[in-house]
Amino acid sequence: MRNSTRSGVDPFIVMDVMEAARKAEEAGRHIIHMEVGQPGTGAPKGANEALAKAMEQGPLGYTVALGLPALRQRIARLYGDWYDVDLNPDRVVITPGSSGGFLLTFTALFDSRDRVGIGAPGYPSYRQILKALGLVPVDLPTAPENRLQPVAEDIQGMDLKGLMVASPANPTGTMLDHASMGALIEAAQGQGASFISDEIYHGLEYEAKAVTALELTDECYVINSFSKYFSMTGWRVGWMVVPEDQVRVVERIAQNMFICAPHASQVAALAAMDCEDELQANLDVYRRNRALMLDGLPKAGFANIAPPDGAFYVYADVSDLTNDSRAFAAEVLEKAGVAVTPGLDFDPQRGHTTLRFSYARATADIEDGLERLRLFMAARGAIREQA
Ligand SMILES: Cc1ncc(COP(=O)(O)O)c(C=O)c1O
Repeated sequence: MRNSTRSGVDPFIVMDVMEAARKAEEAGRHIIHMEVGQPGTGAPKGANEALAKAMEQGPLGYTVALGLPALRQRIARLYGDWYDVDLNPDRVVITPGSSGGFLLTFTALFDSRDRVGIGAPGYPSYRQILKALGLVPVDLPTAPENRLQPVAEDIQGMDLKGLMVASPANPTGTMLDHASMGALIEAAQGQGASFISDEIYHGLEYEAKAVTALELTDECYVINSFSKYFSMTGWRVGWMVVPEDQVRVVERIAQNMFICAPHASQVAALAAMDCEDELQANLDVYRRNRALMLDGLPKAGFANIAPPDGAFYVYADVSDLTNDSRAFAAEVLEKAGVAVTPGLDFDPQRGHTTLRFSYARATADIEDGLERLRLFMAARGAIREQA
């Protein structure tokens, strides 16, 4: 059967790494997972309890397309608590994960063949979803001196209809401060491009608080999710904040595309927002893991890393070690028993010399993984073995 041109999206290479790791485990090996971009923890206990109760009380049918009003209100309150932003709950739209939010956003804002700027390296699915919708992703190669984030000058004369940023970003964990986010918003709006901010890693920040685009403008789409800070990847629930005059547009598309985000997940998400102690305990683990990574990776010979302000990733330049990050990641898996992600997923041009390490798992795994990496690199002659 014939396929559409738009269906020709690239695979997610990290999935191939996960499959290779699974096969190694099936063959009896013990693998440390530094490839996966998700918490090892499940949903907070309070979320599970709230859902169990709701399942006894009612059928959990469809909700309205914009989501449970109580959840929209609670999310609006989060903006007051986290950023001191007074947000009208009517502007909050509940989505099937931030992935569902991307579909709604791109469909609401762009026409076929519109050009949308995305930072490189960046989350791979932006590019693939844009392509699948007949839009044109425009890679903005970022520089280490700009913390691997796009800057206003990058988009001058680019004829963009949209600009998408992520802070903290995947794969780098780097963030945009007020000034750089403000300059990007101004540059985008100056050329009539819609500004979209992926804030899925908010809450997972270690030094400064992440900046929401809503602190700077109401004329933007903000996309967020319960997947990361709230530790609910498989529940497929997220949210967007859109300008007031965009709510009805998004609502009509959401009604038709999804009907609603999963009702059960919305119930659990609402309760998760009051599980602060458990979520902060998860954050303490990431903080500890991050410190171990910042100490252990350079000692293992991975010294050229982006400053990981947030999320749970470290992005390393390994150009001194390889020109083929895919083959190198396979070698690390084979010889060290550590699964890592080749940078090609995130940057098709320059990712052949980069790797992403995730530290979302238990601290004991991170310690073990770092030691394995150190021994592997010593055996490879990349570092001198310390006594
Ligand atoms: C930057 C970024 N945005 C969005 C997503 C998708 O998340 P969700 O589970 O909310 O669809 C991910 C997942 O890893 C991500 O890293």
